[in-house]
Amino acid sequence: MDVLQELETRREAARMGGGAKRIAAQHSKGKLTARERIELLLDADSFEEFDMFVAHRCTDFGMEKERPAGDGVVTGWGTINGRLVYVFSQDFTVMGGSVSETHGQKICKIMDMAIQNGAPIIGINDSGGARIQEGVASLAAYGEVFQRNITASGVVPQISLIMGPTAGGAVYSPAMTDFIFMVKDSSYMFVTGPDVVKTVTNEQVTAEELGGAGTHTKKSSVADAAFENDVEAIAEVRRLIDFLPLHNRDKPPVRPFFDDVNRIEESLDTLVPDNPNMPYDMKELITKLADEGDFYEIQEEFAKNILTGFIRLEGSTVGVVANQPMVLAGCLDIDASRKAARFVRFCDAFDIPILTLVDVPGFLPGTSQEYAGVIKHGAKLLFAYGEATVPKVTVITRKAYGGAYVVMSSKHLRGDFNYAWPTSEIAVMGAKGATEIIHRADLNNPEKLAKHTRDYEDRFANPFVAAEKGVIDEVIMPQSTRKRVCRAFASLRTKKVQTPWKKHDNIPL
Ligand code: HXC
Repeated sequence: MDVLQELETRREAARMGGGAKRIAAQHSKGKLTARERIELLLDADSFEEFDMFVAHRCTDFGMEKERPAGDGVVTGWGTINGRLVYVFSQDFTVMGGSVSETHGQKICKIMDMAIQNGAPIIGINDSGGARIQEGVASLAAYGEVFQRNITASGVVPQISLIMGPTAGGAVYSPAMTDFIFMVKDSSYMFVTGPDVVKTVTNEQVTAEELGGAGTHTKKSSVADAAFENDVEAIAEVRRLIDFLPLHNRDKPPVRPFFDDVNRIEESLDTLVPDNPNMPYDMKELITKLADEGDFYEIQEEFAKNILTGFIRLEGSTVGVVANQPMVLAGCLDIDASRKAARFVRFCDAFDIPILTLVDVPGFLPGTSQEYAGVIKHGAKLLFAYGEATVPKVTVITRKAYGGAYVVMSSKHLRGDFNYAWPTSEIAVMGAKGATEIIHRADLNNPEKLAKHTRDYEDRFANPFVAAEKGVIDEVIMPQSTRKRVCRAFASLRTKKVQTPWKKHDNIPL
């Protein structure tokens, strides 16, 4: 009986982490504890813990006197809506959640299990970084985690929740995961903190400005979403997991749906304004195509000229990439190309079909774009689409000009179904620009120029030239887009593509 009692006593001590006082301090910052976060993340009573009694082995600086059970991280597995996931959750109440050799080993153990058994890894980060008393042993522990992030990449989805400090080299583990969610005002990520920044560059900046949720979702694009508090962020991870396959040989989950596949949306017939320079909201099209209007947007606050996210069609996950005419006329620039390229590659790695909605006037011109390498960054999106072998369905709603036409999942990049609305204009450039080049001699004759422009519009401001050449498979009625797109994806469920052997490609980085 005593041993049973001892187990309970030891468990109770482990569950208390750094003790009541530190738990209260954690709560006073508006943060949940490591265990409370896991409770919320996983289905009720599904959590199975590993290594609850692991303790560090450090004997320097009197560390042998303090060996808390669990060593600052709670690890294990459980389910989200019945589907297996592995999780680690750093416990800031135990030595600031700092990473020791054993702390790192606990994380590595569940990462190895996740890779072996094919299930997502969800990491909850809340840590003061490398355990200072352990020196290089702690750096080695990080290195082992990094290597597993790389091995797991493209094998199982990896999701990071940043719920406290994440600084120094520690940021590079989440940086290599597929999605990063942050909590506003209580989390930050930076390679060097405000004090070092001040010393080296003389810039004065707060931790929040340097690496808070706003900075990383709006400016740097390091993070994919920012939430008001721990509870909201965790609820959104549960929603995201529902869209994803468990591993790269799994199919995305098919969920019950209550939306007619043949639903006709007459309002789409008037979505595109008569004036080609007038914007409209591409999100309206996405939500009208999606089952039950549910669009899970990724990187909503960054490069708003392109939309990325997940919807379901006939209950199955589809990744959506769409130009947004409301912002920068929907043109492609460096940020949009990077954002969409990474999303396309995630979808392709995990066998998620891609729907591309096109209204793109071209790449954004200018020295700032050229100097910052728009050629290379634009090529990322081109490359990502071209290498993707998942089912690809494209709908051009209006403009598809120049190189951007080719990039946006055109027929030439192995698009499976390339549809165009009657409002489409597929051309090298807009009619005015084109006329001014090919009829330069008439530049000073506005009447002639206007006539040339009209001629060019008559010739190219429609989808039919492209349709005659077969680079558009069909011109479709906007109102029937959901039906057409669903049928297209249904017909592609058995798609298989052979590519020549290579070790891996050399995508422009
Ligand atoms: C050991 C640490 C620790 C660390 C915090 N603690 N960070 N213990 N190693 N890295 C302990 C504190 O001693 C304290 O213990 C408890 O955690 C809570 O810390 P506080 O400072 O009281 O909390 P707070 O005021 O909220 O400040 C949090 C903090 C600060 C900003 C993270 O603790 C801090 O600056 N820590 C050091 C950060 C750092 O320099 N880390 C190394 C970065 S380099 P008690 O017993 O009082 O509760 C790195 C490289 C990784 O990480 C490289 C990978 C390749």
